[in-house]
Amino acid sequence: MKSAAADALVIFGASGDLAFRKIFPALQALFARRQIDLPVIGVARTALDRQAFARRVREAALAADPGADAAALARLEARLDFVAGDYGDPATYERLRIALVRSAHPLHYLAIPPSLFPAVIKGLEQSGAARGARIVVEKPFGRDLAGARALNRVLHGVFREREVFRIDHYLGKEAVQNLLYFRFANSFLEPVWNRIYIDNVQITLAENFGVGSRGHFYEEAGAIRDVIQNHLLQVLACLAMEPPTGSDDEAIRDEKARLLRAIEPLDSRNVVRGQYLGYRQEAGVAADSRVETFAAVRLSIANWRWAGVPFYLRAGKQLPLSATEVLVEFRGPPQAVFGEHHPGHGNYLRFRLSPEVVIAMGVQVKASGDTLMGETTELFATHQGSGAAGPYERLLLDAVRGDGGLFAREDEVDAAWRIVDPVLADHGPVYPYAAGSWGPEEANRFIQRNGGWHRTAGSGK
Ligand code: BG6
Repeated sequence: MKSAAADALVIFGASGDLAFRKIFPALQALFARRQIDLPVIGVARTALDRQAFARRVREAALAADPGADAAALARLEARLDFVAGDYGDPATYERLRIALVRSAHPLHYLAIPPSLFPAVIKGLEQSGAARGARIVVEKPFGRDLAGARALNRVLHGVFREREVFRIDHYLGKEAVQNLLYFRFANSFLEPVWNRIYIDNVQITLAENFGVGSRGHFYEEAGAIRDVIQNHLLQVLACLAMEPPTGSDDEAIRDEKARLLRAIEPLDSRNVVRGQYLGYRQEAGVAADSRVETFAAVRLSIANWRWAGVPFYLRAGKQLPLSATEVLVEFRGPPQAVFGEHHPGHGNYLRFRLSPEVVIAMGVQVKASGDTLMGETTELFATHQGSGAAGPYERLLLDAVRGDGGLFAREDEVDAAWRIVDPVLADHGPVYPYAAGSWGPEEANRFIQRNGGWHRTAGSGK
């Protein structure tokens, strides 16, 4: 069900990194396109005043886009307000309440660590600032299944589920929308989209950089918590879910949740962890850390469509390149009419999610010449640069409008934690790998029976 559009945006953590890198640039872009025009109130423990806050917003907008529209920036600045104060102090919320005096439906965006959620939610409730409001929360949604459930209890103590907007920025990506659209807007796919025709599915999230200044955060996370439990499982759900019945916010989320519930919880035989050499020397990282900066997992979906099809997910830092890609590999033809088949990856669908958006089909064609020898070529269904609105613009706009479809619902988050929870506790070995490699050798052996990992190319391929 759609609720009323928000008439004010409150950003907790307004002096923080997330607000600077993602939220302010998105706000500037939305003001420039005249898609929103509402008061924006920053809240932070840092004692800024309104002018200093406005300078920070301007800096952030210009850092993201040096050519940012000056008139839009001026319009945004005119709507800014700032409340400084401790998150545990009722006086902070009294000041916020006064700043919100003309707002009936504020949108509270918690760009703060989850450990601060309970204090803020209590403050919002007691001051009356939660009335008629919605709330946006950022990942991580807890550190494990029990933690996520505790967090949800805190949220639901004050807000109803349809008032809670959990951001998984992957769902706001143009490419992920495209994947979903491609699946359900084309009829040729459905007959082959199942265990009879598909041999295996691979999803890779590769990054060619290390943890940088986020060592401290990463020590609490690791690749499984950081990107597999959320981003990659959401992509997998879009890829493998049943067709939604209807197009309202809940229809797609119902099917994604159902799919996630059908995935069998991981055990240590289906996980390979790696850590890049040099990670333990990064700032904020323990000298004997066993946190994984690379993980490969093999998942099974226990339903009619997918039984027996392995889904491989891998994510890693300090890999040879940065790209996110999905590869759906079809089984080979039943007979090798022209002699030996091209080994592995003969027919596939490739969804490139970043840096560019690509949907391509890998097919075998005859190489020109006297012999009946084949080669792989790709048919491109779409190939776009990165011109589309960024995920934060799309998600912020949806949250302001009250459209919940692109946000993770409680049952999806719960089901996703249930999948990874057993291997969070039962940690297993962490194999070292060289920076610039594709992770530990064990990750290659792990997928050998399905012909190995597909080669993920650099940008432009
Ligand atoms: C974030 C993770 O959620 O996603 C980061 O915390 C990761 O570690 C990032 O780098 C990847 O997102 P994107 O959009 O750059 O693929």
